[in-house]
Amino acid sequence: MLQSMKIIGGYPLFGEISISGAKNLALPAIVTTLLTDNEITLNNVPNLSDVTSLLELLEYLGCDINHDTAHKQLILKTTNIKHTEAPYDFVRKMRASILVLGPMIARFGRASVSFPGGCAIGVRAIDLHIRTLQLLGAEVTIDNGFIKAYSPNGLTGCDITFPIVTVTGTENSIMAAVLANGTTRLINAAMEPEVEELCNLLNNMGAKITGQGTSTITIEGVESLHGTTFDIMPDRIEAGTYAIASAITHGKLLLKNCIYNHLEIFFNTLKSNGVSITQQDNGVLVENNNDKINSIDISTAPYPGFPTDLQAQYMALMTISEGVSLITENLFENRLMHTQELNRMGANIIVKGNTATVKGVENLNGAPVMATDLRASASLILAGLVAKGETTVNRLYHIDRGYENIDNKLLQCGAHIKRITV
Ligand code: EPU
Repeated sequence: MLQSMKIIGGYPLFGEISISGAKNLALPAIVTTLLTDNEITLNNVPNLSDVTSLLELLEYLGCDINHDTAHKQLILKTTNIKHTEAPYDFVRKMRASILVLGPMIARFGRASVSFPGGCAIGVRAIDLHIRTLQLLGAEVTIDNGFIKAYSPNGLTGCDITFPIVTVTGTENSIMAAVLANGTTRLINAAMEPEVEELCNLLNNMGAKITGQGTSTITIEGVESLHGTTFDIMPDRIEAGTYAIASAITHGKLLLKNCIYNHLEIFFNTLKSNGVSITQQDNGVLVENNNDKINSIDISTAPYPGFPTDLQAQYMALMTISEGVSLITENLFENRLMHTQELNRMGANIIVKGNTATVKGVENLNGAPVMATDLRASASLILAGLVAKGETTVNRLYHIDRGYENIDNKLLQCGAHIKRITV
């Protein structure tokens, strides 16, 4: 049954929101179980449908899973593998399933993953994931819609230069290289905090990785990895979304556990918008006392640039700003679909190429709208929080992929929001 979110706009949000564990770290962290036969314990794992989808795939592959959702703890053990093939039905649900490719080829010498295909936000090629495996010495073929990789004698380290920055491409390459013979150097690697933390987790498991958090990551291959216990860091995109919830409703929210440095460029932009951002011991306080919101242009870029995963939410804020804001999406070719839905709520946005020109309007009006992807649905909920009257966000299943308990988190701070089953 499909769910929708009904929102009555116009209520400022006040209070505290605890930021959950990062989805885009939890996913690669989970697949590290494929690299060792010892136990991996992950704490602060967010309860999200993307996590559930990945666990279903791992269970199919033969991992033992003990998931204590109440305590957000996940214990994983992969003594033996039953399958080295990730079928279409799993990969279709979630593109990040491609992350099993690197660890499976590293430990078992073979891996086969259904081709993920395009998705709502763009083509999302995986040629660079494949290229790395080939450079590390794997034989890779595309056969019947599957990427099949084979390296019975193991992989061999080498220098790999990425022509463009890819987050899961870097993560897959790191996980392929940790058990390789010799040293691998990834040049123009992704610098996202999620990649850095994945390397820290792998080092806790006995890997020898240096340079994480910079654009050159060096991986000295080791014989084997062992088990460990690791905490998933707070989700910077969830934190950024609630920061905008505070700004757009002219509220005051303490984002508990939020790591300021992970969002520096984003917070600097909000400050230029006129929002007060204060670092505190236990998180970041976001307060908007101003009547008007300044319009500031943004252009998305890999970390540490303005995150593409916050572009849609930021656009919601700009719809009610004073002036004109240019929003340029540089990472994904089809990630401006929320503009049509925001316009249905009275926004004034014109898209040309990869740039949206957002002319601020006095106010938005509630309307039935449809979420097209995860971050677009967050953007529409934010718009609904400030729009006059009632907004219904349909196809809510997108939001549950990446926002743990969003209804309650917003309700507790004074939002008038209700999930309904239609
Ligand atoms: N690309 C290629 N070839 C490749 C890989 C990527 O051309 O082999 C291109 C993509 O088509 C895209 C660009 O490179 O134009 C960047 O894509 P990237 O590979 O970095 O994206 P991803 O790894 O598939 C992760 C996050 C996304 C996030 C992007 C960018 C995870 C599980 N997903 O995706 O998160 O938008 O990095 O930061 O980490 C989300 O959480 O809503 C989300 C979509």
